[in-house]
Amino acid sequence: MSTKDISTIEFGDFQTPKALAAQVAAVLRGRGVDPKSIIEPTCGLGTFLEAALEQFPDAKKAIGVEINPEYFKVANERCATLRHHATIDMRLADFFRYDWRKVFLDLPEPILVIGNPPWVTASQLGSLQSENLPKKSNFQRRRGFDAITGKANFDIAEWILIHLIEWMDARHGTVAMLVKQSVARKVLFHAWKEKAPLADASLYRFDAKAAFGVSVDACLLVCDLRPGPTVKKCEVYDLATPHCVDHTIGYCRGMLLADIETLENQERLLRQPHAPATPYRWRSGVKHDCAKVMEFRCDQGRLQNGFGECVDIENTYLYPMLKGSEVASDNKPGADRFMLVTQREIGEATDHIQSDAPKTWQYLQSHARLLDARRSSIYRKRPCFSVFGVGQYTFAPWKVSICGLYKKLAFRVVGPRCGKPVVLDDTAYFVPCLSKEEAELVHGLLESPQARQFLRAFIFWDSKRPITSEVLGRLDLLALAAEIDGLAELQRLRPENAAWVGLGLLPSEP
Ligand SMILES: C[S@@+](CC[C@H](N)C(=O)[O-])C[C@H]1O[C@@H](n2cnc3c(N)ncnc32)[C@H](O)[C@@H]1O
Repeated sequence: MSTKDISTIEFGDFQTPKALAAQVAAVLRGRGVDPKSIIEPTCGLGTFLEAALEQFPDAKKAIGVEINPEYFKVANERCATLRHHATIDMRLADFFRYDWRKVFLDLPEPILVIGNPPWVTASQLGSLQSENLPKKSNFQRRRGFDAITGKANFDIAEWILIHLIEWMDARHGTVAMLVKQSVARKVLFHAWKEKAPLADASLYRFDAKAAFGVSVDACLLVCDLRPGPTVKKCEVYDLATPHCVDHTIGYCRGMLLADIETLENQERLLRQPHAPATPYRWRSGVKHDCAKVMEFRCDQGRLQNGFGECVDIENTYLYPMLKGSEVASDNKPGADRFMLVTQREIGEATDHIQSDAPKTWQYLQSHARLLDARRSSIYRKRPCFSVFGVGQYTFAPWKVSICGLYKKLAFRVVGPRCGKPVVLDDTAYFVPCLSKEEAELVHGLLESPQARQFLRAFIFWDSKRPITSEVLGRLDLLALAAEIDGLAELQRLRPENAAWVGLGLLPSEP
């Protein structure tokens, strides 16, 4: 990678085309925005400052801040040539080391903060050993598993917007920024949860490929701030048609909703946060982070691993498997994949494999270098060859599953193969079932129009992983069963005291 490329990543440097900045300023004017002060916090070449000053002739003060001296010089010269009576204050400075609270205090209202913050994540900056970061990084205070699995990673733009809204405090104004749609949702969620003085919010989607040459679901997020109650709704538009509302996202009982109107008719199916546990808890497939070693194809009775090596190991720890992509496929899944599952629960000792299945142990030892090199800290301080996402549920004979990566709600019943439960990879979610009848009944519930409509209220289809166990778990399957006359059958098939212990110890081996 060239130094220029690295610097582009580090500073999230995507300068906004003039036409897009002008379109944004016009949309803001159409909303009734009429600022006395305009700020572009990471102003680059100053395109937004120029567009906003052209659109808002009554502004009295404008401020631009930029860290890159070359951009700063251009922006400075550009603003000097503008015919505008506002005082324009350009500063070569680091956003993260700037006293924004003080800046906002001194400005005439209403204030417009406009622009396009850097497009880079904290983990990208970490891998570049960059210091272009806020001082305190884990600002959402995520710990433990979330921090390990990357949920603690965040976009710098998210940090910037959340803090700008906080620093504006009770001042009257608008924050309008180009960000990823996922960032916009996180900012809204945070503002709604923390009861920020958000009087109105809108999201305008636009084509980032055309504007910046990047395939990202991007938008203009507009937050109108005014002291008073928080309005927990955000209308979604296309920037090209800023008067036609497409749908409305919102916030209800601590949850972000992809479509508030859909949920309004379906609240009875919402699982209450502290409702007693049912057997239908959504689980993830097995995580091992080493597919080439732990997954196999079987061809005419011969196992082959991901390196193309023929492998001779015992059946003891081998399970038939399905990949998430096979769960999502419309075709009948193949029957040739297998996975080595070394533990029945997280943290279980593995040294007994040496005597239980010596060839398996030998195979694992021969690939120990790769398995020990797995980067995720979930494997640290665990028995060697550990896997993750295992428990009794993993070995349930029947499962109703869905893949988290695909943009469709398609559930599949998965039953045992070769006398053993089929395990899933970690791109799939499932509810464990005891019998075919039970799995088919649960599948029917999940494929019902009521379930689809309910789940659509929560699914943001542009997310990397639109379907999550959290979203699926919001549907109260028993309430749905009661509504469509399946509850009695479900209770018959799954009596309260169903013996879970021993699941997976199916009689015959492959
Ligand atoms: C996505 S670009 C947008 C530039 C400009 N706002 C526009 O819309 O054309 C992000 C800008 O942030 C600047 N930047 C990155 N880190 C910064 C920091 N810590 N302080 C100030 N500016 C920064 C980059 O140099 C770059 O010009």
